[in-house]
This record gives sequence, C-alpha cells and structure tokens, in this order.
Amino acid sequence: MKKTLLITGGAGFIGSHVVRLFVTKYPDYNIVNLDALTYAGNLENLTDIEKAPNYTFVKADITDAAHINAIFGQYKFDGVIHLAAESHVDRSIVDPNSFINTNVMGTANLLNAARALWKDNWEGKRFYHVSTDEVYGSLGDTGLFMETTPYDPQSPYSASKAASDHIVRAYGNTYNLPFVITNCSNNYGANQFPEKLIPLFINNIKNNKPLPVYGDGKYTRDWLFVVDHARAIDLVYHEGKNGETYNIGGFNEWQNIELIKLLCVKMDEKLGREAGESAKLITYIKDRPGHDRRYAIDASKINKELGWKPSVTFEEGLGHTIDWYLSNEEWLNDVTTGNYQKYYSSQYSNR
Ligand code: NAD
Ligand code: TYD
Repeated sequence: MKKTLLITGGAGFIGSHVVRLFVTKYPDYNIVNLDALTYAGNLENLTDIEKAPNYTFVKADITDAAHINAIFGQYKFDGVIHLAAESHVDRSIVDPNSFINTNVMGTANLLNAARALWKDNWEGKRFYHVSTDEVYGSLGDTGLFMETTPYDPQSPYSASKAASDHIVRAYGNTYNLPFVITNCSNNYGANQFPEKLIPLFINNIKNNKPLPVYGDGKYTRDWLFVVDHARAIDLVYHEGKNGETYNIGGFNEWQNIELIKLLCVKMDEKLGREAGESAKLITYIKDRPGHDRRYAIDASKINKELGWKPSVTFEEGLGHTIDWYLSNEEWLNDVTTGNYQKYYSSQYSNR
C-alpha cells in the first residue's frame, strides 16, 4: 500500500520546496498539499510538479476543524508534515489574532484530526511540526540557541509558534503521539514572498526603490538556503527520533547591514550598474517594535545524529537566489500585483 503524506502550507515558500522534494524523490508516496492559499500561498510555485500522478492539491483552512477532520477521513494520512502558518513578524504586530488562530488553533485542529484518524494506534505514524528559532527569543552578542534553550518568544508570531510547539509536545506526552519538531533559522531562496528581507530588497534594488533598514541595522540573523531546509525536513521525517527536537541553521550569521551591503554589491554586478550605485538606496527607518537583536543556531545535534549539513555556501545560495528573482520577473510581477491569486481559479475551477 502506498503511503499517503499530508504536507500543510505547501503553496508557501518553504512548503513548496518540501512538496517538490517529496513528490519527485518519493514516487511511491501520495503527497497531499493542503493550503488555504492566503496572500502567502501561491500555486505558481508548483507548476513544474502539479501534474505528477502522486500529487494532489486540497484547498482548506486549518482553522476549519470540521473540514480538516473530513479531509483526514477521506485521505487517511500516514504522516503529516505541518508547515502552514502565518509567518511574517511585521504582520503579527499589526494583526496578532490571525497568527493565534492559524498557528495555535490550526495546529491543534490537525493534532485532533490525527488522533481521531489514528485512534491512538500510532504504529508507523508521524506528526512533524515545522517551527522556528524565534521561539527561543533574542541572543546577546554571544551564545547559540540549543535544543535545550528555554523558550522566550518576544513577538506575536514567535509566541504563537512557541504555543504550537508546546501543544505538539503535550500531545506526545499525554497521548503518546509520535512527533518530531524542528526549529530552523531564517530561510532564503526562490519563491519567498517579497515582504521578507532578502526578496524585498532584491525587488527594491531592481526597481530603484529605497531599502528600508530597521533601527541601526545591526540586528543579526543566521541564514539558511531553503533547499537545505527541505533536505533537513526529509531527513528528520524519515530518520529523526520520535519526541525529539532538532535545531536547523546555516552556521551563517550576518548583521542585517552587512548582508544588505553584500546584496547591493552583487546586484550592481548582476544589473551591470556602477559599483556603489545600489547601496545609495539604503535608508534607515524607525525600528520594528520589540525587534529581536540576534538569532544564531547551534545545529550540531542534527549534524552529529543525522549527518545533515548545508550543501551550499551563502555565496552560492545568494547568487542562485538573485538569479532566480531576476529571471522570474513574471512570478515577481504576479506576486506584487496580486495576479497570482487568480491562478487557483483558472487551474482548479473544476474542483
Ligand atoms: P509562508 O508564509 O511563505 O507560507 C505559509 C503557507 O501557509 C502559505 O502557503 C499559506 O497559504 C499557508 N497558510 C497560512 N494560513 C493557513 C491556514 N489557516 N490554513 C492553511 N494554510 C494556511 O511561510 P514559510 O516562510 O514558507 O514558512 C513555513 C513554515 O516554516 C512556518 O510554519 C514557519 O513558521 C516556519 N519557518 C519559517 C522560516 C522562514 O525563514 N521563512 C524559518 C523557520 C521556520
Ligand atoms: P525578516 O525577513 O522579516 O525575518 P525575521 O524578522 O523573521 O527575522 O527580517 C529579517 C531581518 O531584517 C530582521 O532583523 C528585520 C530586518 N528587516 C529590515 O531591516 N527591513 C525590512 O524591510 C525587513 C522586511 C526586515
């Protein structure tokens, strides 16, 4: 019997890379991509695999418990990889409730549906919850986030993700739900919605628009190429130990302003501009409220126990990312104009 695997949030940035990897690498799995297609969900991310015989797209909202239960009853999933979430910190500051609804209640609905389907007979089943390093809060100048670092979330986004992590662990503890959780650092790569730092700034540089740098620009993030995150998810789904948490990171810390300057240099080269031209767009603006100063991951557990490490250098990953955005103008235009939201109705109008 073919295994049926649910991937939630598969039309988003990271989810689309995970769906592509599983659909192409595991022809003997049926992959169901469940996504509500919010502003962040874009089926154009998956046009290359959408006709694959082992792939199905289901439009559903994880906050709709009755619909989620019905879908679990229909597809009888053997495993779940849960990525669907509201994911942008700035939006969580403006509208925390949508984060609490989707990230906390939505996750609880999936856990309840898994329990109802699997009836506490967990043999061969697995619930994989994809989370973020932001649950650990903010680091000072030194130190790294370990799996044992106490949770200390600071934004509505990270607090909602922390709550969902706790609920997943509580289901493991209380009902023996076989789960794994990964907490990953900042991702970058193709198909990221241009509201996050790297794609926003690539798009703005291309269009000669200001680059809004929050505060003093000395905030630090640890950047990982999205394909390497998808590889880690594949590994942890198949080889991670039940009940364990693994931190995933790029061993790649950058102060925002240094990263932005590097991006400007690369963009000058790619666009054939005079050196220093793009950097003139850098504009310091008012800081984000509650802005976490520094994130950095100690990814030695997943490295030692499962043998994972990033496959590309930052230089390579960033070059690939810039090339992708510059050669996928239609994708970028569709996303910035909102045209991509019409794709679902044209492609799936008969469903
Ligand atoms: P994204 O915002 O690009 O995509 C989220 C996807 O979830 C979208 O396709 C959206 O339509 C879908 N979605 C949102 N609300 C939904 C709902 N109520 N029901 C069903 N689907 C819904 O996010 P991303 O950057 O790809 O992040 C994916 C996951 O990885 C999230 O759980 C996030 O917390 C986590 N994560 C992200 C990063 C990062 O740097 N982007 C780092 C670590 C962890
Ligand atoms: P972001 O991509 O929003 O990821 P996160 O907040 O989840 O780490 O932001 C990355 C860093 O870049 C963060 O320190 C905030 C900063 N930033 C800016 O300075 N300007 C911007 O316009 C954005 C979107 C982010």
